[in-house]
Amino acid sequence: MSDIRPLLVTSALPYANGPPHFGHLSGAYLPADVFVRYHRMIGSDVAYVCGTDEHGVAITLSAEQAGVPYQEYVDGWHAVWLRACEKLGIEFDNFSQTSRREPHFALSTEFFLRCLKNGHVVRRDIEQLYSPKTDRFLADRYVVGTCYVCGYEEARGDECPNCGSWLEAPKLQNPRSKLDPDDALELRASWQYEFELGPFADDPHVKPWLEQFRGGLKPNVVGFVFDKMIEGEGLEARPITRDLPWGIPLPKTDLDGNDLGDVEGKVLYVWFDAPIGYISSTIEWAEREGKDWRRYWIVRDGEPEPRLVHFIGKDNITFHCILFPAMLAWQGLDNPPAEFLGPKPGERYALPENVPANEFYNLEHKKFSKSSGWYIDVERHLEKYGADRTRFYLISSMPETADTNFIWHDFKARTDLLANVFGNFATRILKFVDKHFEGKVPPRVGMDAEWAEVQAAIEKQVGEVAEHIEAYRFRKALDAFLGLAEHGNLYLDKTAPWKLRKTDMEACGTALHIALQYLPALSVLAEPFIPGVAAKLRGMLNLEARAPGSILPTELLATGHALGEPGVLCEKVDPDEIELELAELNRRSSEDAAS
Ligand code: 2FM
Ligand code: ZN
Repeated sequence: MSDIRPLLVTSALPYANGPPHFGHLSGAYLPADVFVRYHRMIGSDVAYVCGTDEHGVAITLSAEQAGVPYQEYVDGWHAVWLRACEKLGIEFDNFSQTSRREPHFALSTEFFLRCLKNGHVVRRDIEQLYSPKTDRFLADRYVVGTCYVCGYEEARGDECPNCGSWLEAPKLQNPRSKLDPDDALELRASWQYEFELGPFADDPHVKPWLEQFRGGLKPNVVGFVFDKMIEGEGLEARPITRDLPWGIPLPKTDLDGNDLGDVEGKVLYVWFDAPIGYISSTIEWAEREGKDWRRYWIVRDGEPEPRLVHFIGKDNITFHCILFPAMLAWQGLDNPPAEFLGPKPGERYALPENVPANEFYNLEHKKFSKSSGWYIDVERHLEKYGADRTRFYLISSMPETADTNFIWHDFKARTDLLANVFGNFATRILKFVDKHFEGKVPPRVGMDAEWAEVQAAIEKQVGEVAEHIEAYRFRKALDAFLGLAEHGNLYLDKTAPWKLRKTDMEACGTALHIALQYLPALSVLAEPFIPGVAAKLRGMLNLEARAPGSILPTELLATGHALGEPGVLCEKVDPDEIELELAELNRRSSEDAAS
């Protein structure tokens, strides 16, 4: 049932430095879209925001290597992401860019100043790797070297791909510049601001939320946040500034007017400004649509408390379960400047209700990797196989509780199942009614027990789909949707209207009247998963393109209702195509290995 509380849903802001692959899409975008479509359908007050993450070393390094100005570089990838998501039917309310200055820069600066004022940000002197050849500091990913935790020789300056540790570039052994391995790097004195996370779990505002939050999380998230981080390694201070030419510049003074020193060349660390992008994107949307963004983010007396849900991949758990909640929790001020956007005295930011984090999604048991040829071109795939079949397969193989795979043969098997169980069921009934009952819903005479049984089955499956979606179990929700079509097939086989037609036209019509009632329900349940097919089915049923704002009770088709034109709902994939796809994948990857 819809909740009157405003619901703000986000998908991790993707870095604007490469195209999406199915791992991204099945991890953080498609589940959110299913969740949001369901909520729109049941009439929730929901906003779904995202945008590209456009600062940081991952971006500057790639743009420099490509020889393209930073802004041009991120704008290009922003457009690619937006187009691919649109083709897959991901319906964001807003898809912003963190390089858009307003309101993002002002809001990010405000976050920094509020945390500083509240004593959660401290300044520390550090040593940074410096490139004498290019006369600049080289932050994290500009540097590779030997991991001081596990000894891996190709560790990045910010993170070790081998052991997963968060690293500090100056501590790497044998550090080398990624831009020029012959550049003899030096350690030079610098300073940075750090975010003190130590008090997080015991903060009196955070503690009660944390306990409740824990109860709703998937076991993989609890394991990471509580067992590994809070109760395991502990929460260490994290740098929140960088010496970089691209990003949100540090302010010159604090809230009391004190000089912050030589801030020239210092910007906010990308992890700090990225999640603020969720709020900036909401503000952008609200301004465009005449809405009140604060309704979705700020807890205020006399107003319903917003619900905040972040869909992410497992590599972003720390940011969404610890760092961003800490930033949000530590924004309160007794006397904020009038121009500040965030909470006024007595208000606070909402903290996340849930962070559904998916595991990783691989391709035929290996990581997606464009550079080694092991990938599927998303846009080409969507053009060739369509958004609905792709969505259906990605949802049915989503890495909800463990790493999973895109398997080409499975793609065919699962989408064929959709065509057989769901598509053919609808087409079979509709063609029959079209041919023998002039395309109009025949009357029901008797068969009260069957009628009640079918109605109960519909109600049960609709309830199951809703329950699973609300609990972020999208694979099970999809199974429950198909389960209703399976039930319909059994009903049709049992009553066999094609046989009744020869002996008892009234009984035949009654059986069809009952069988037809599965279809509006299926068209409603299909919407979050396969919206194109859902709309097509609704056209064949001569119902409005989108279901009205309530999933329960579903509509019934009245006697005499004129149906639309029957046709094919879901097509099967040609088996030869699958073999060609596999051959192409193997060819590309062996070509790469040979080069
Ligand atoms: O991992 C990533 O792709 C990051 N750009 C995610 C950022 S999510 C959020 F914090 F904005
Ligand atoms: Zn390591």
